[in-house]
Amino acid sequence: MAEILTLTMNPAVDVSTRTAKVEPTHKLRCAAAIQHAGGGGINVARVVHRLGGAVRAVFPTGGLNGQVLCRLLEAEGVRSECVAIAGETRESFSVFEESTGKDWRFVLPGPTLMPEEVQACLDRTSAAATSTSFAVASGSLPPGVPEDFYARLARLLAARGVRLVLDSSGAALAAALEAGVYLVKPSRRELHELTGLPLDQAAQQLAACRALLARGQAQVVALSLGEQGAMLVSRDGAWQAPALAVTVASTIGAGDSFVGGMVHALQRGDALDTAFRQAMAASAAALLAPGTALCRPEDVARLAPEVRIERLA
Ligand SMILES: Nc1ncnc2c1ncn2[C@@H]1O[C@H](COP(=O)(O)OP(=O)(O)OP(=O)(O)O)[C@@H](O)[C@H]1O
Ligand SMILES: [Mg+2]
Repeated sequence: MAEILTLTMNPAVDVSTRTAKVEPTHKLRCAAAIQHAGGGGINVARVVHRLGGAVRAVFPTGGLNGQVLCRLLEAEGVRSECVAIAGETRESFSVFEESTGKDWRFVLPGPTLMPEEVQACLDRTSAAATSTSFAVASGSLPPGVPEDFYARLARLLAARGVRLVLDSSGAALAAALEAGVYLVKPSRRELHELTGLPLDQAAQQLAACRALLARGQAQVVALSLGEQGAMLVSRDGAWQAPALAVTVASTIGAGDSFVGGMVHALQRGDALDTAFRQAMAASAAALLAPGTALCRPEDVARLAPEVRIERLA
């Protein structure tokens, strides 16, 4: 079976715990820490793997955290392609506050990559993309990685006939869209930053997604709207789906689970609207799981028939 490739330039060892209340000065006694491999593309790989898809995760790693990251993925059975770097892989820390039910998320910038390390990541991705029809690049770029990195990746993969799914933000996202990608998954904030267009109403959201298609920036736009659900727009049609009403344990990883569900379905040949259904189910399933645990496949399967997809055009 063809593999899905994921690239995560700024991976992290995600450490999550819980405490009664987050406040300054006092020591905050926390529950035992739970560790997961993290970073956008790695989360997508974890989701694809647990949904039964073949996947390989490419990412730079360094130092002891780098070793921990590789071990965590190995334990989950996710095939990894670690690119050695001199810097230390970062940790991300999230704390569930029991008194409010909210997550506090502390995110470090990540190590600075050298130019040759950046190039090695592109080379390894390219070399790994031999039996790949879909690649996913997701997450922020760490210091040292130029803003045109995702744009370079987009050109490199397009030349090899690989469809790139991109989930990122800011200047790196904008530059990549100038090169053109297969599918982009902005959140409402990310699409607003990209286009400057108002996104309050469905008609405005549809117009903004279509603007990306019209400029050739993406063939498919999956706009995620948090508790308002999501919209999927391509040249062949447009669909929207309200979010499923589930009890939210944590919204961490909802976007990554959405992308994982989507690309897993596309890889196995599902039509866009069917893939959208699985994406919606996976993102809702991620909400059921505390901290950085991501979606469980049994929840995805149970929730998928409940997704209401409405055709817009
Ligand atoms: N509070 C919520 N209630 C119900 N569904 C939600 C909620 N938050 C997220 N979702 C589901 O998860 C999907 C992705 O969430 P969201 O739009 O917040 O993207 P994200 O990538 O996680 O956000 P960001 O990158 O801005 O943090 C939504 O389309 C929706 O289906
Ligand atoms: Mg996101």
